[in-house]
Amino acid sequence: MANILVTGGAGFIGSHLIRLMVNKYPGDHIFNLDALTYAGNAENLKDLEQAANYTFIKGDITDFTFLESLFDKHQFSGVIHLAAESHVDRSIANPMAFITTNVVGTVNLLNAAKNAWQDNYEGKRFYHVSTDEVYGSLGAEGYFVEETPYDPRSPYSASKASSDHFVRAWHHTYGLPIVVSNCSNNYGPYQFPEKLLPLMINNIRHGKPLPVYGDGSNVRDWLWVEDHAAAIDLIYREGLNGETYNIGGNNEWSNLDLVHKLCDVCDELLGRPAGSARKTITFVTDRPGHDQRYAIDATKLKNELNWEPQVQVEEGLRRTVQWYLDNSEWLENITSGAYRDYYAKMYQER
Ligand code: NAD
Ligand code: TYD
Repeated sequence: MANILVTGGAGFIGSHLIRLMVNKYPGDHIFNLDALTYAGNAENLKDLEQAANYTFIKGDITDFTFLESLFDKHQFSGVIHLAAESHVDRSIANPMAFITTNVVGTVNLLNAAKNAWQDNYEGKRFYHVSTDEVYGSLGAEGYFVEETPYDPRSPYSASKASSDHFVRAWHHTYGLPIVVSNCSNNYGPYQFPEKLLPLMINNIRHGKPLPVYGDGSNVRDWLWVEDHAAAIDLIYREGLNGETYNIGGNNEWSNLDLVHKLCDVCDELLGRPAGSARKTITFVTDRPGHDQRYAIDATKLKNELNWEPQVQVEEGLRRTVQWYLDNSEWLENITSGAYRDYYAKMYQER
């Protein structure tokens, strides 16, 4: 039985990854280390509470002493690192939290793994989950490939780029067996409603304006979150030591086109007259330094590990909207902080 540490597993992508791994590998024990910040929600994995091969641990990756004792106790053979501050707008308002968690927290984890594994790297792996935003901003043409030079432009992407560099430095300097992936924008159930799609769905439900930044011409490449989780699992098991893999949805949309599409799906599923939600779109002041376009070339992952996204945006959007409509209690609780208070108390008492 392998003990695998997943960080940030109470967040959006981490919860999908953990659900996949716990169900797919009953012979592995998955430890979910998460600080339960505003974005983390143990409720996301309520269905695994009884699973024999799953353990939740509340803890902070910025606490090195705690990490060392955790590695000592559980003898992890693998780490899949997702814990991060993840929202660009928050990074503009409060960059220091991003440096502390994303940079210092990542280096803490690297050191904890290195110290625990003590140069015996046989069967060990440190997987760092990163973003395509480290590559900067594209114009109308071209795609990010694994060799694209780094050009981060927001405090969030600068902190992720920095952490990527540290992970690779620990590989080159100390021989730590690592793998890195850089992924495009994810969407699907359990995403905190500060990101574009769940924020818009939540506002549509409440009849609030839909704030589109600038003129809505910025382009993102959208990936169904379960496709990302499947890619991470595949790369963790079969990716080559020291390598980087780009993960993308091959699904480029301008923000305005995507919001239009979302509005139409919401009207239909809410039984409202066609065109109602579109009327509430409001163009607001642009995000400072707003990257124009991200687009991933995921050919390497397709050719070397045979991965391709399975869910296209038409279907994924519908599934996402339906999930948020069916889980309005989740939305209310996560926006009000009710889950956070509940779990903070529960884990404090343990
Ligand atoms: P998220 O914000 O939903 O979840 C992050 C999780 O990390 C939360 O559960 C939070 O409680 C936890 N966390 C934060 N600080 C912590 C700390 N100091 N110690 C322990 N846990 C802490 O983020 P997400 O969207 O699921 O993203 C997960 C990872 O994937 C991040 O590293 C992000 O950079 C990367 N990524 C995200 C996307 C995307 O579209 N969401 C795309 C590419 C890469
Ligand atoms: P976001 O979900 O924050 O992801 P990222 O900035 O990491 O790509 O935003 C996606 C796009 O949507 C981005 O171009 C900014 C834009 N956006 C809006 O127009 N309005 C909003 O309210 C939000 C949150 C984002």
